[in-house]
Amino acid sequence: MLCISLLVISALLLAIFKFFVKDRHYWKKRNIPEVQGVMWKFLKSQKSIAEIYKDIYFAYPEENIGVYNGPKPALIIKNLENIQAVLLGDFQSFFSRGFNTNQNDQLTDSVLFMEDYERWRIVRYKISPVFTMKKLKSMFYIMERCARDFMQFMDNNQEAINKPFNALYTYTTASITASIFGIDANTQNTMDSPFIEMATKATEPSFQTNLKFLLASTFPKLFKLLQLKFFGDHEYYFINVVKQVLKERRKDNDKRYDFIDTCIELQNEGVMRNLETGYQLVPSDELMAAQAFFFFIAGADTSAHSMLFVLLELSGNPDILKRLHKEIDSVFEKCNEKLTTDNIDELKYMDMVINEAFRKYPTIGSIQRKCTKTTTLPVGQIKVEKDVQVIIPTYAIHRDEKYYPNPDVFDPERFSPKNIGNIPKYGYLPFGEGNRICIGARFARLQMKVGLAWLLRRYTLKEQVYKPKRFEPSFFALRDTGARVDFIPRRI
Ligand code: HEM
Repeated sequence: MLCISLLVISALLLAIFKFFVKDRHYWKKRNIPEVQGVMWKFLKSQKSIAEIYKDIYFAYPEENIGVYNGPKPALIIKNLENIQAVLLGDFQSFFSRGFNTNQNDQLTDSVLFMEDYERWRIVRYKISPVFTMKKLKSMFYIMERCARDFMQFMDNNQEAINKPFNALYTYTTASITASIFGIDANTQNTMDSPFIEMATKATEPSFQTNLKFLLASTFPKLFKLLQLKFFGDHEYYFINVVKQVLKERRKDNDKRYDFIDTCIELQNEGVMRNLETGYQLVPSDELMAAQAFFFFIAGADTSAHSMLFVLLELSGNPDILKRLHKEIDSVFEKCNEKLTTDNIDELKYMDMVINEAFRKYPTIGSIQRKCTKTTTLPVGQIKVEKDVQVIIPTYAIHRDEKYYPNPDVFDPERFSPKNIGNIPKYGYLPFGEGNRICIGARFARLQMKVGLAWLLRRYTLKEQVYKPKRFEPSFFALRDTGARVDFIPRRI
């Protein structure tokens, strides 16, 4: 018995050892410089993964740098033409993000996490209409109402005045909630979203979630065996809320122009079909709930942080703030304090400011793809084998002097009509690019603009210099939830 146990343990240890050494020096053998221990550095350091990639990007002059995601080889690529190939040109080889999830994890069955090409394609195609400009315009009354409620929230909430992240997060979660579930005459205050706690818990980086992501991408078989779930804590609650809302809305013929309207339309059309391939999918309540859940996960924290970075930079650049105030005041005076989408379009300088904040602080600091079919990157003829991950280091590219002179200076003029042509193609990626580009980019911009317009109509900012030593240790995002901004009420 002892002999058998010893034999089993030895075989197991040998298998683990083989697993770890199999791809050791994978990159060295292919004449690509390599950096070991990146994931360990991430778990140990108090930095975001995007900052670790940035350090590597600037430490090596080469265009391709090999790293290891656990024992698995991953390639950081710098060349913008190769980035274009990964995100668009050679999409068939790189459609996957490489997020492994378990089938029982119902809330991960969303466009963001989907790895099955056909499933992703049909769901993305069917829900895209929610984010067209036409649909957003009809939804704008919801966002405007949220921005007004946000002002009331700021006025009554002293804590929000100094540490604004929580307030901004309350606003973005509220406006996503209202855009998914709609508002009606009985809605007292949109800031009382019942999903704030759920969204906070689901997006807050923790050692446990980081470990799950690491396990899912390095030991997918073990991850499957253990049937681990990323969002299991919220599954029962959220799916049931969506089911209930869908049930009630089916009885009611009122158009609200929200996501639930789109779900009902899709469900009324019946099975979703791809006529070319014959692929079919039922738009079940669960599938719709997973999409809605991911609007919170993908949209609330990113939008709140992007607004926060705008405010932090404005508080360090009084001339830029002054010019923006002037633009906002003139629009508000013209529209009698009731914004429309046309007024939002007039805020051209605000667009420049937001674009520059996205450049300096791309909240999603790196983009990843998994190679699903061995291929070659065009520049340098770099072979990428199936299952290798490719990392696009957005944060590092946005701070590269080669593309953005004086990259640490906040300069909205980079995005003026005169200069915008200098922004390099595939060198500006706050929302990604290509076929898997952020589906909510227009929504996010609109939500940010209306929120910031109201905020800066009411308040100005105390001058301060923002120079973060590092961001929070997140696997995906650049976060600084504790950053302070001092708001001073304006006398208009
Ligand atoms: C400032 C706010 C936001 C930023 C910076 C942001 C950024 C991004 C980035 C970088 C990606 C990955 C793109 C790629 O891999 O090429 C992404 C994907 C995605 N985003 Fe956003 N996002 C924001 C807001 C939103 C909002 C408000 C929503 C929904 C309401 C949303 C929904 C999604 C979805 C569903 C995907 C996956 C698309 C797919 O795989 O087909 N995002 N976002």
